[in-house]
Amino acid sequence: MSLLEVKDLQTSFFTDAGEVKAVNGVSFTLDRGKVLGIVGESGSGKSVTAYSIMQILAPTGKIVSGSIKLDGQELVNAGEKVMKDVRGNKVSIIFQDPMTSLNPTYTIGKQLMEAILLHTDRNKKQAKERAIEMLKLVNVNEPEKRMKQYPYELSGGMRQRVMIAMALACEPDILIADEPTTALDVTIQAQILELMKDLQNELGMAIIMITHDLGVVAQMCDEVIVMYAGSICEQGTADEIFYNPCHEYTKGLMRSIPTADTAGTRLQPITGTPIDLLNMPAGCPFAPRCDAAMKICLRERAERMEINDEHMASCWMNVKKGVEDGSITLEADEEKTVELESVPEEAAQEQTIEAEPAAEEIMQEQTAEAETEGGDLQ
Ligand SMILES: Nc1ncnc2c1ncn2[C@@H]1O[C@H](COP(=O)(O)OP(=O)(O)O)[C@@H](O)[C@H]1O
Ligand code: SF4
Ligand SMILES: [Mg+2]
Repeated sequence: MSLLEVKDLQTSFFTDAGEVKAVNGVSFTLDRGKVLGIVGESGSGKSVTAYSIMQILAPTGKIVSGSIKLDGQELVNAGEKVMKDVRGNKVSIIFQDPMTSLNPTYTIGKQLMEAILLHTDRNKKQAKERAIEMLKLVNVNEPEKRMKQYPYELSGGMRQRVMIAMALACEPDILIADEPTTALDVTIQAQILELMKDLQNELGMAIIMITHDLGVVAQMCDEVIVMYAGSICEQGTADEIFYNPCHEYTKGLMRSIPTADTAGTRLQPITGTPIDLLNMPAGCPFAPRCDAAMKICLRERAERMEINDEHMASCWMNVKKGVEDGSITLEADEEKTVELESVPEEAAQEQTIEAEPAAEEIMQEQTAEAETEGGDLQ
């Protein structure tokens, strides 16, 4: 049994404009001591997935269906008492901006000690010792002095270290880090990641590392989930995702990061903007931005397909490849085969499709305003 098992999670926000399906059928497992990366552009549902696990959604947000099991215990509809215990003792979260979670009116020491007193059975004196120890653990210099300081007196990097210390105060089984270094400059980012890696080795907790930065994933993660428009488009071991990406969106993300070969050249951001979650298309949500889109991509979503034991992806390209090399037969669904085959001169055009008139119309509709704005990874 895995430490965390998330199955077909669906979380929506019920807004005046309608139901926003922020997380739409997400499934994954996390084993003790492992690091799982969740990557994807801004708005893809990474944070909402994490907030669903913690059940700290905005009032309009609701887990519509699915299951979240922590150590075998179902958390969906488990009630506030169970969730308090989860949040207090089992799962901690570090947010992107530490200022939103540190109280500006209390000293670092008071906040840290409160967290320790709340989550462990230490007395006040022991809590103070532990707080200083925690600050040392996260490499905060002059910890005794820091204890008496207020959050605004510390640098961004220091505050993030204090946040990590707070999150670790309850000695969690799982630490969720939601873009923990995005607000920091590159050198400090690297130091914080290094620190998290060390802590993970030392304390043996599992980490869910949410990021839009594939470099962070490469450095930290065992397993990776790639999210797009609320769904998982690809998941597998970090090696598989990096060296054998099997979804056009992941391939796009890969092209947009600098490598030794592309250093100094312009990155290729994925053009277009993500899909409107209020008006989800029937087909692949990435289709309006996908150079390889086929007719069928606009009509139907590709199912999750096992690439190998360590790798799943939902992209029609894999079906197409399978049909071409004979490993997949689609005889039962003649129409699908025709649609996969109807890509004009695919080899010559390197899988770039000149969409047929009907398909083109849909794509234009979906990319109406996307043309002018270049999407980036943030
Ligand atoms: N409080 C909210 N009310 C309505 N919609 C929301 C709210 N929070 C998030 N969403 C929707 O959920 C989507 C996913 O958000 P989020 O998980 O925060 O993305 P990210 O991958 O950047 O962390 C957003 O694009 C947004 O449409
Ligand atoms: S399913 Fe089709 S549109 Fe979606 S990523 Fe794959 S090739 Fe592109
Ligand atoms: Mg987020």
